[in-house]
Amino acid sequence: MRHIQTLSALVLFVTMFLIFFYSTLHLETAYSLRTGPEELLKEPSLQVHDGDGKAQPSQQERFTTPPPAVLNMSVSDGLRQAIPQNGAYWNRLLYSALRNLVKGDNLFGRDSDWSLCRQNQEHLQTNMHDFTAYPVLFQDFVQGMNCRSPPVLLNQPNKCISGQEKEDNQTFLLFTIKSTPGNFVQRQAVRETWGREGVHLSGLRVHTVFLLGSSPPEDPDLSSLLSFEARHFGDLLQWDFHESLLNLTLKMNMFLQWTVKYCPAASFVFSGDDDVFVNTPTLLRYLQSLELPKASQLYAGQVISKASPLRDPKNKYYIPPSFYDGPYPAYAGGGGFIISGALLPRLYSASRVIPFFPIDDVYAGMCFKALGVFPEANADFQTFDINEQDRDNLCINKKLILIHRRSARQIKKLWKGIHNPLLTC
Ligand SMILES: *[C@@H]1O[C@H](CO)[C@@H](O)[C@H](O)[C@H]1NC(C)=O
Ligand SMILES: *[C@@H]1O[C@H](CO)[C@@H](O)[C@H](O)[C@H]1NC(C)=O
Repeated sequence: MRHIQTLSALVLFVTMFLIFFYSTLHLETAYSLRTGPEELLKEPSLQVHDGDGKAQPSQQERFTTPPPAVLNMSVSDGLRQAIPQNGAYWNRLLYSALRNLVKGDNLFGRDSDWSLCRQNQEHLQTNMHDFTAYPVLFQDFVQGMNCRSPPVLLNQPNKCISGQEKEDNQTFLLFTIKSTPGNFVQRQAVRETWGREGVHLSGLRVHTVFLLGSSPPEDPDLSSLLSFEARHFGDLLQWDFHESLLNLTLKMNMFLQWTVKYCPAASFVFSGDDDVFVNTPTLLRYLQSLELPKASQLYAGQVISKASPLRDPKNKYYIPPSFYDGPYPAYAGGGGFIISGALLPRLYSASRVIPFFPIDDVYAGMCFKALGVFPEANADFQTFDINEQDRDNLCINKKLILIHRRSARQIKKLWKGIHNPLLTC
C-alpha cells in the first residue's frame, strides 16, 4: 500500500515537472518572438534559401542544394566602403548579414519554403516607418525579398552536356536571355540570328537559354505552347514566379543557380534581354582575344558608375530613402553584359549573403563589389542605343557588340545586313 502511494506521488511529481518544463519552453519561444527590431532585422538576412523548398512537388526536376564549394565566402572591403552603414532597411540588412558572416553563422542551413517566405506587414512597418506609403509593387517586392526558391516549371538539365561525343564539347559561351512567356516572336528572332546554338568560328561552342517567369492568372494560359516550344527547341527555363520588373533580381538569382549547377564549365556567360542585338562573331573574337587573368575575371559591358537611387515615386526604378540610402556601386547595364564562367560560383555565393535589391543590374554590381571584381567598360556595348543617324549604318553596327533595343524584325534585318558579303566598310 505504501509502495503504491509513493509510486503515485512520484508519477504526480514527474507529471507536474514535465508540465512546468514545457510551459517554460513555451514562454521561451513566445519571448523570442517579441524581441526588438534589431533582432527582428537579423532574421530575414539569415533566411537564405537553398532552392530545396518543398512547395509543389512538380514532375520536373527540383533544384537541390548547390555544391559545398559555394559556401565559403569572404566579402571584400570594397563593399563596405561603397555602401554606407546607416538606418535604411536594406543597409541594415546588409550589415547584419555581414556580421553574421564574420561570426560564421551558417547562412545556408535554413530550410526554405516558397509558401512561407513572405514577411508580414507589421514586421516591415517596424523597420521602415513609411512602409505603407511605398508604391504597392515596391511593398510587394519587400514582402517577398527572402523568397528565393520558386518551383521549377521548365528545365534543360542536359543543355551543356549535349555534344559530349565531339571534341568541341566544352561550352565557350552561354547566352542566358531574359524573356517573358508571351515573347515568342522575339525569341524566334534571337534563335535565327545572334543566339543560334552550335559551333562558331571554327570551334567555339555556343549554347542559349531563355529565362522565364510565369504570366499572371488573368492572362491567357500559354503553358501548353511553352512546353511545346521547350520540347522543340530545348532552350526554355521557367520558374513559377510572376514576371515583373521587381522580380528580375529573383530571375538573376535563378540563372546563377542554374548555371552553377548545369553549365559549370562554360568559359563565358552572357546575361541580357531578348530585345537586344548582339553581334556574336565580334563578341566571340573579343572573348577569344582575352588573356589570363582577365579571361577568368571578366565582368564587362556598358559600365554605369556614380549612379544613385532615383527618388521620384513615379519612376519605375524608384527606391524609397528609408529602404536604401547610398550610391550604387559601378555596374554593367542589364541590357547585356558578359561574365567569366569561373566567377559564377563565387558570384552565386555572394548573392546568398547580399539581400535582394529591386534592380537586377545594380544588384549584380553589388555582388561583384563583394567579390572585389571591377566592371570593365567596353564601348562596344550600347545598352542605351546609339545616335539616331547611325542606326541604319551597317558598318557602325558591325563594329559594335551589343545594341539595345531592337525589334524582332530589326534584329533579322541587321543580322542579314552585317553578314552580307558585299558589305564593304
Ligand atoms: C569531351 O567529352 C569527352 C567524353 O565525354 C571527354 O573525355 C573530354 O574530356 C571532353 N572534352 C572537353 C574539352 O571537355
Ligand atoms: C514576384 O513573384 C511572386 C511569386 O509569383 C509574386 O507573389 C510577387 O507579387 C512578384 N513580385 C512583384 C514585385 O511583382
